[in-house]
Amino acid sequence: MIEASADLISVPPNPYDLFRSWYDEALADERIEMADAIALATCNSLGVLSNRMVLMKSYDEQGVVFATNYASRKGQDLKQNPQAALLWWWPVLGRQVRMEGAVDRVSESESDQLFNDRPLASRVAACLSKQSSVIKDREQLLQEHRKLLQKGAPTRPNDWGGFRLRPFAIEFWLSRPSRMHDRWHYRQTGQQWQITRLSP
Ligand SMILES: Cc1cc2nc3c(=O)[nH]c(=O)nc-3n(C[C@H](O)[C@H](O)[C@H](O)COP(=O)(O)O)c2cc1C
Repeated sequence: MIEASADLISVPPNPYDLFRSWYDEALADERIEMADAIALATCNSLGVLSNRMVLMKSYDEQGVVFATNYASRKGQDLKQNPQAALLWWWPVLGRQVRMEGAVDRVSESESDQLFNDRPLASRVAACLSKQSSVIKDREQLLQEHRKLLQKGAPTRPNDWGGFRLRPFAIEFWLSRPSRMHDRWHYRQTGQQWQITRLSP
């Protein structure tokens, strides 16, 4: 475990090393359900904000990938304003991670892979659901889902796929006694990450 502690020198120069260490610990901790759950905040072209939970599908030094319906509210926000903020909160570890960055669609082949990795019923649901649109009748939707399931494996619809957030800022927050929490802020400057410590 990398425990960023006494001073900036003990913090790894690459924020992904600290993220990997914290995320792996969260995944391994049996008290934590859905360590991969992230709050995703978006903002449309009028400056109207919205947020919701999504699941992290993967991450590497290129960024963080999540999957959704491109025509959903978040999809439309990201089309108008391709920037977003992500937040993980692991209460039993007293740790929060925030990322801010530009968002773009992953490649078609990556989206196909994300789609094909889902259980059949979820793939069918992704085909059926016009996410964030108003529905008249939930029962009808359930019936259509049952009917489509009989037809076997669907191909990925065009409006479903992955997004990748490429962070330019990453902040780690560690709970400490007496509200004297630790915060490390990484900001990308060219190939380097500039590290600062923030007041709690
Ligand atoms: C724990 C959790 C994980 C979720 N994961 C996803 C996800 O990976 N993709 C997704 O589209 N919606 C996911 N949802 C549903 C979203 O929070 C949201 O209701 C939906 O995407 C519609 O959001 P929008 O109308 O802002 O686009 C998840 C919800 C919860 C509570």
